[in-house]
This record gives sequence, structure tokens and C-alpha cells, in this order.
Amino acid sequence: MQLFMRIWVKLLTTWWQITVPMRLRAIGVELGRDVRFYGMPIVSLAKSSRISIGDRVVLCSDSRFTALGVNHPVVLRTLRPQAEILIGADTGISGGSICAALRVSLGKECLLGANVTIADTDFHAIKPSGRRFNGNLLEIGAAAVRVEDNVFIGTGAIVLKGVTIGKKSVIGTRAVVNKSIAADVIAAGTPAREIRSFPQADEKKEKW
Ligand SMILES: CC(C)(COP(=O)(O)OP(=O)(O)OC[C@H]1O[C@@H](n2cnc3c(N)ncnc32)[C@H](O)[C@@H]1OP(=O)(O)O)[C@@H](O)C(=O)NCCC(=O)NCCS
Repeated sequence: MQLFMRIWVKLLTTWWQITVPMRLRAIGVELGRDVRFYGMPIVSLAKSSRISIGDRVVLCSDSRFTALGVNHPVVLRTLRPQAEILIGADTGISGGSICAALRVSLGKECLLGANVTIADTDFHAIKPSGRRFNGNLLEIGAAAVRVEDNVFIGTGAIVLKGVTIGKKSVIGTRAVVNKSIAADVIAAGTPAREIRSFPQADEKKEKW
């Protein structure tokens, strides 16, 4: 039985490694080397927009391949012409959603826990009159999001428009991040606030 399961897993992962890159390249996604896919992500590009996935990025869309499980496959969507989603090398995403009307960039070696959401737009206008059918981009809030290198975002967190998260910082589970967070800090809560900073001394000598 175990042997059968191992063969099945090998077949599944090989299938994804062959078919997902083909499908993503066919719709215009730029893929680095050795990107790994567990399950089929949901990816769509607006006209003249860009999605770039760096070397050795791991996208997990299948609960069997990540500890906490995922609520849905990884979703990557650009929503407007010229929008960009840029994912740096060695970053890992489990079942997250990233939507860009302008630009969402993730640095290198970031970790996005299960089901993190990052969106650089409000999707709909704040102004109530005609909101249901209001597609006027000037009335829909949007501002680029930047997540710098080696940031760890806890499961279920939501990062909203205009936010920068500085390098090496950690965002707690289920945080709503609506203001920028400095580098080298832990932030948590709703709205996310810094709860402490990392010691400035040599990390390797510090006790964590
Ligand atoms: C952010 C985190 C790493 C901080 O851990 P820590 O440094 O051990 O922090 P502590 O537990 O000592 O908490 C420090 C303070 O922040 C608060 N806090 C910690 N995490 C919080 C959260 N997610 N939301 C709100 N407040 C939080 C604590 O209540 C505590 O407040 P107090 O000082 O008033 O008592 C941890 O809380 C966390 O969210 N871990 C989960 C990461 C995750 O999602 N992993 C899954 C990846 S798939």
C-alpha cells in the first residue's frame, strides 16, 4: 500500500512538473529555473500585464503537500494592463491569493503561510452611488505592495494596498496589514502593529 502511495505521489508531482509550467508559459507567465508546483494554481493575466516567478519558487495548491493544508489553490491574478506580480527566487507560497492592479512584489526567500492574501487594490469604489457597476479606475483605491526579502507572513494574514513589509520581518497569523511594517520586526494583530524588533546583534549568536 505504501509503495503504491509513493508511486502515486511521484506520478502526481511529475505530472504537475510537466503540465503546469507548460500551461503557465502558454499564457505568458515568466518562469525561472526549477520552480516547483504542487497542484494546479489559478493564474490569469490582464492584457499587457506581467507575472514573473523566480528560480526555485514553490507554489503549493494541494493540501497533501503542506503541513496546515490550503483552503484553495494558489491564485495569481493581474487585473489591469501593465500590472505586475513579481515573485523572488526561493519564495514559497501555500494556497495564497495575490491580486495586482498595479504591482505586488515579493522578495527573495519569503514564506507565505497557508492562505495569505495580498491585494494592491480595493477592487470596488468606496463612493456608494453606482458602486455595484462602477468600473472607474480613478475611483477604486489602489497602491503597490512590496514585500522585501526573507519576510515570513503567518497563515491567514491579509496585506492591503500601499503596504511595504521590510526585509526579514514576521507577520503574525491572521494579521490585517494596512500600514507599512519596518524591517527586522515582528508585527501582529488587526490592524498589524509591531510587537517587538529583532536584536541587532549577529543573528547567528542570538538565542531565539
Ligand atoms: C507572530 C508570531 C511568530 C510571534 O510569536 P512570538 O514572538 O513567540 O510572540 P508571543 O507569542 O510572545 O506574543 C507577543 C505578543 O504578541 C501578541 N501576538 C502574537 N501573535 C499574535 C497574532 N497572530 N495576533 C495578535 N496578537 C499576537 C501576543 O498576544 C503577545 O501580546 P502580549 O505581549 O500583549 O501578551 C506568532 O504569534 C505567530 O503568529 N505564529 C504563527 C506563524 C504561522 O502562521 N505559521 C504557519 C505558516 S504555514
